[in-house]
Amino acid sequence: MQLTRANNPYSAGAGTMPPVLAGRDKDAENFRTLLERLQNGAQGRSLVYSGLRGVGKTVLLLEFEKIAAELEWDCTGVVEIGTTTDFRASISRMTHRLLRGLSRREAAIARLNQALGVLKAFNVTAPGGFQLNIDVSAIAGTADSGDIEEDLSELLTEVGRVAQAGRKGVVYLIDEMQNLTPVAMSAVCMAFHKIAQQKLPVALVGAGLPALPTQLRSAKPYSERLFEYLPLGRLSAGAAHSALVTPATRQGAAYEAGAAELILEKADGYPYVLQECGRVVWEEAGFSPITYEAVEAALPVAQDILDEEFFDNRVEGVTNEERRYMAAMADLGDGPQSTAQVTERAGYKKRTSSGKARQALIRHGLVFSPEYGKVDFTVPHFGDFMRRRYPLHGLLQAASAGDE
Ligand SMILES: Nc1ncnc2c1ncn2[C@@H]1O[C@H](COP(=O)(O)OP(=O)(O)O)[C@@H](O)[C@H]1O
Ligand SMILES: [Mg+2]
Repeated sequence: MQLTRANNPYSAGAGTMPPVLAGRDKDAENFRTLLERLQNGAQGRSLVYSGLRGVGKTVLLLEFEKIAAELEWDCTGVVEIGTTTDFRASISRMTHRLLRGLSRREAAIARLNQALGVLKAFNVTAPGGFQLNIDVSAIAGTADSGDIEEDLSELLTEVGRVAQAGRKGVVYLIDEMQNLTPVAMSAVCMAFHKIAQQKLPVALVGAGLPALPTQLRSAKPYSERLFEYLPLGRLSAGAAHSALVTPATRQGAAYEAGAAELILEKADGYPYVLQECGRVVWEEAGFSPITYEAVEAALPVAQDILDEEFFDNRVEGVTNEERRYMAAMADLGDGPQSTAQVTERAGYKKRTSSGKARQALIRHGLVFSPEYGKVDFTVPHFGDFMRRRYPLHGLLQAASAGDE
């Protein structure tokens, strides 16, 4: 059988739904249970997923969107928080979509105008305001105090009551949640605390980089008990195998002995790498069954593409000093490194440069702090990439030659 781009089943790319969403059955089940409990008026904790880039956070949120639709819940869709996103405007937009959905429910209609009025008031104080085409007047004195904690609590409570009247519920899906400001995080915690107390059918699933749980806890210590924290990591061996082999089998293609294993070893359980390698091998091999030799020949091609798309794109926007910071981290080895050691190894002329570089890299979402005084990369295998493409000694030479 011929293997072509046209019949290639793999899907590498941020937020691209894979042909087989492997190893996430428990997550799907857990999410269903959450919605069912909330719908029955029981307590249910919202979910916070965290993990490195490329482990499948966004596609899991997309899967939850589908499940919510199946259960006839209204959903915001997956909304990504950027570093410059205005939180009030985002929440307004998300809530507007929920209320539009709820307007199709006979039983919810009675409360709907009230909720739209509260939303309008909430949105009024958003700087640069988001254009809301709502045919009701803002209800002054609700959700417009300017204190986002209070306002968001009022808004979500109102939405919860409408949803409850409609006998279903609503879900907020927030991606890249680590980008919320501490104030916005506090507001989310406070609002969901209020929602939980009243057992209203409003669920949140947030996803973000590994430091997200810590960020939430430092915003509001009680968020520890408020959410269910679910770290997302590598796929298990079985899940990785099925993510790679099942899509091929479905297309009528096969891997020869050892061929799939070679790809799986390379992917190391990381879904993004797995999809990219699967995709490249398919086309490079050209024929099924895919042989061990074909995989061996194709993997370096896949590596080049990964270097370009998964890694290098992220390094492009950073300054020389920031790049040197990452090269020093990589030079120290894989896993969390002490910031003091990174500073020393990166050889900055001024000590403050190190702190500035680290803060900028955290803002870019390239590194995070797994614990106090430590840093690590947010992208799996990034250290390896830095050592190959941007070795520290090269950058140090450039710096001392006065290139910067
Ligand atoms: N459970 C999974 N099984 C197979 N492939 C997956 C799985 N989760 C994610 N992927 C693939 O991995 C890549 C990265 O997924 P994405 O959701 O964008 O990761 P993240 O949001 O964590 O950075 C995509 O190409 C996606 O198709
Ligand atoms: Mg993502």
